[in-house]
This record gives sequence, structure tokens and C-alpha cells, in this order.
Amino acid sequence: MPATVICGLQWGDEGKGKATDLLSADVSAVVRYQGGDNAGHTVVVGDEVFKLHLVPSGVLHEHITPIVGPGVVVNPRTLLTEMQMLNERGIATAKLRVSNAAHVIMPYHVALDAAREGAAADSGAAIGTTRRGIGPAYGDRAWRSGIRMGDLLEPDLLRSRLAAAVAEKNALLASYGAATFALDDLLALALDWGRQLAWAITDTTALVQGSLARGEHVLFEGAQGTMLDLDHGTYPYVTSSNPIAGGACTGGGIGPLQVDQVLGIMKAYSTRVGAGPLPTELKDAVGEHLTEKGHEYGTTTGRRRRSGWLDFVPLRYAVQVNSVNTLMLNKIDILSGLPQVKVCTGYRVDGMLVDSWPLNVAQLERAEPVYETLEGWSEDLSACRSVADLPAAARRYVAAIEERAGAPIDVISVGPERNQTLMVNSGSVLGARRRAGAAA
Ligand code: GDP
Ligand code: IMO
Ligand code: MG
Repeated sequence: MPATVICGLQWGDEGKGKATDLLSADVSAVVRYQGGDNAGHTVVVGDEVFKLHLVPSGVLHEHITPIVGPGVVVNPRTLLTEMQMLNERGIATAKLRVSNAAHVIMPYHVALDAAREGAAADSGAAIGTTRRGIGPAYGDRAWRSGIRMGDLLEPDLLRSRLAAAVAEKNALLASYGAATFALDDLLALALDWGRQLAWAITDTTALVQGSLARGEHVLFEGAQGTMLDLDHGTYPYVTSSNPIAGGACTGGGIGPLQVDQVLGIMKAYSTRVGAGPLPTELKDAVGEHLTEKGHEYGTTTGRRRRSGWLDFVPLRYAVQVNSVNTLMLNKIDILSGLPQVKVCTGYRVDGMLVDSWPLNVAQLERAEPVYETLEGWSEDLSACRSVADLPAAARRYVAAIEERAGAPIDVISVGPERNQTLMVNSGSVLGARRRAGAAA
């Protein structure tokens, strides 16, 4: 029955792609449960770098069934391009399945995202979205005016739903002075997408439930991160879905009691791309070190990511709301060369010491981080293959995180490649679970 959820604990880009690829060796299906092509998940295999936006990151393993779940918003254009890219590089996508209930990102969603962001930028209020149409598509879902992947296979239904949506979207686009869309063009495009993807569109919830019933292990791959969660993040500077582990239930087709492991993915420092509070942001040489050494440039948009020290205030919150029971710590190699490393243990807000996550952007903007300083290390960590290979100061940093985060670190990553991974307690996160189960 096992189901494992992988989710980001910070502001996205924690290394979920690497984690998903690693764990895929031991599971039968990988399900993306939310977000869309705003995500950029990197998997590095030798000289090859794969940047995936919609296709689940388990796709590089032949035995995996990659599933795009009902909670995802799908831009079929991106999906088809990504499948072609994978096929051209020798990766099969014939096993891919896409939920008939997943919502479609239409060209008017993308245009509206850009129009709204452009208008907001003039008043300094832009979210800094990826402009992939994510918010408008989820908005239509909530407004019940969305188009679902299954609708692409029903010409009459599609025409009537599109006709209603286009009239509304055109009025809105015109109010921004943006170009409008012709119904017939959109209908032809959507039907063509349906024809190209018909073989993959299905009831993925039945597939997932079938796998679990057969005792197969299913992995749920989150996109973005807890601090970008619509309800738990730095609203309104968030994405429009629920990256938290609970999102795997609503967006993946399982119930809460079917989840038996939540692997929280964290970076050894903080990064954020787009607008919104990042309390520990560094605009000095250390921030420059983290961004440049960490190659912190967006996988989807190429934008420079903001960087800062590790922050335990949101991290502890993330461990709680995701019910994380095992952690993967990534990119600790990037801290090499810093004489000191700091960690934020609380904030001073309006003269008060706060150590719980303030779900309020105004307070977060006023939050002054309170730091604890640890000794840094100069050694390159990228060749380390076990915890014993890490210098003592790096081991102390790991111990400090484990002590304060509220969950054990079972995996440490010291580089983008599969073999740059240290298994801490047991050899394999999944293996540990199985062994624990066998012993019980
Ligand atoms: P995701 O969105 O969470 O999948 O993360 P991204 O792929 O957007 O960004 C993580 C980046 O860090 C990618 O370029 C990875 O190849 C790279 N990466 C992952 N783990 C490590 C690590 O431990 N060390 C280093 N140096 N790079 C890593
Ligand atoms: P992965 O899965 C980092 C950010 C955008 C913006 C906000 C809203 O690779 O970790 P949206 O386009 O979703 O409406 O933008 O969310 N954002 C991400 N930041 N990693 C991501 O995905 C992100 N997906 C969206 O920069 O601030
Ligand atoms: Mg990313």
C-alpha cells in the first residue's frame, strides 16, 4: 500500500526533482498533484540535465508510470513540447497518464496572467508570477468556468464551455488593453490538443487506487513549497494551489490515511524567486555567494533567486503542517567557504520576540531575524559520500538543523548528481520504512 509524499518546505526549488528521481528507483508510479508548468524540477544524470515542468520527475526510470493528477493545471502545449523533448533524448513517455479532471491552462489564462502582472507592476504590486497562467486557471476552476482535460475529448461540451469562458475573458483582457481571442481558433486548438493526448487522458485516481490496492509503492511529487502555499504561505505572494502534503490527497486522489511517509525537502539556506517577504534575505557578499555558487537562477523563468540564511521559523511550521517524518537536506555543499554560517531562530517584530510563523505579510515585512552563529567550513563537500566524510563543522550544522526542525534528516545531498547523496540512517528512506515495517 505505501504512499510517500515529497514536498518542498521553503519557497520552492529545494531539490524536489532530484529527490523524486532518487526515490523513483523503488516505486511504481510518480504522481504530480498540484501546480503546473510554473514548476521547474531538475534531474541530473551524468552529463545530462533534464528540466521538467509538467511530466513527473520519475519519468527517467523506465518502470515508472508518470501520472499528472487531478490537482494539476495542464498547459497541453507545454506538455506536448516536454514529451517531445524527452522522446528526442531517448526517454519514453508512452506510460504517461493525465487526469481527465485536471484543468487546462488556455492561452487566455496566460495572457491574463501577463496583463494583470503588467498592470500591477506599474503600481509596485506585482506578485512576480511565472506568467504561465497558473492563477487565472485555478481561479476558473474555483469559479466553475474552467475547461478540464476530459472536456478536450467532448467537442459539443467543449464548444459551449469555451464560448462562455471566452466572452468573459475577452471582456477582462480588453479592460487591460490586451489582445482578445477568437472562439473558433481556441476551439480548433483545444480539439487538436485533445486528439494528440486522448490516449493519455484517463481517470488517474482509479489508477492510483489500483496501484495502492495491489501493494505497489506510489510517490507523490509536490511542486513549489510550503511558503508558496495558497493557505500557509506568504499570501498574497504565493502560488494558487496547495503544495503541502495535504495537497497530495485532494490533488492526487488519495485519502489522508493512505499517506504513510512525508519526505520534506529543504535547502541548507533560503531562496525565493519573485516578490514577497524573505526575512533572512542577504543583499551582501554572502547573499551573492549563495546565489552564484548555488546557481540560483529560476529553472522555469531564468530569473535570479534571492538568497539568505536558513530560517527555522517557517521551517518548523512547514514540518508541522506537512506532518514531515523524514527530511532531505540539499545543497549543503554551497555553504563551503563561508567562515561562519548563521541560522535564524526567531524574529523580533514590533519589539516582541516571535518564534512561530506569522501568517501575515505586514508583520513579516517588519520581522528582524534573530540569528545564532555557527562555525563554517572551507572543505569542498561535493566528493563526500557518507556523513563521516563531512568536516566536523558541517556535521554540527546538520545536527543543529535536526535538533531544531522537528524531524530527522535521513538524506543529505552534496551535489546535483544521483551519487552525490548521503544516506544518513539506513541506506534508503524507502528501505528504512520497509525495514521498520518488517521489524514491527
Ligand atoms: P526543484 O524545483 O525543487 O526540483 O529544484 P530546482 O531543480 O528548481 O533547483 C534545484 C537546483 O539545485 C537544480 O539545479 C539541482 O540540479 C541542484 N541541486 C539539487 N541538489 C543539489 C545539491 O545538493 N547541491 C548542489 N550544488 N546542487 C543541487
Ligand atoms: P518549483 O516546483 C520557485 C513562485 C513565483 C511567484 C509565485 C506565484 O520549481 O519549486 P505563479 O506563477 O505560481 O502564479 O507564481 O510563486 N513560484 C515558484 N518559485 N519554485 C517554483 O516551482 C515556483 N512556482 C511558482 O516566482 O513568486
Ligand atoms: Mg524549481
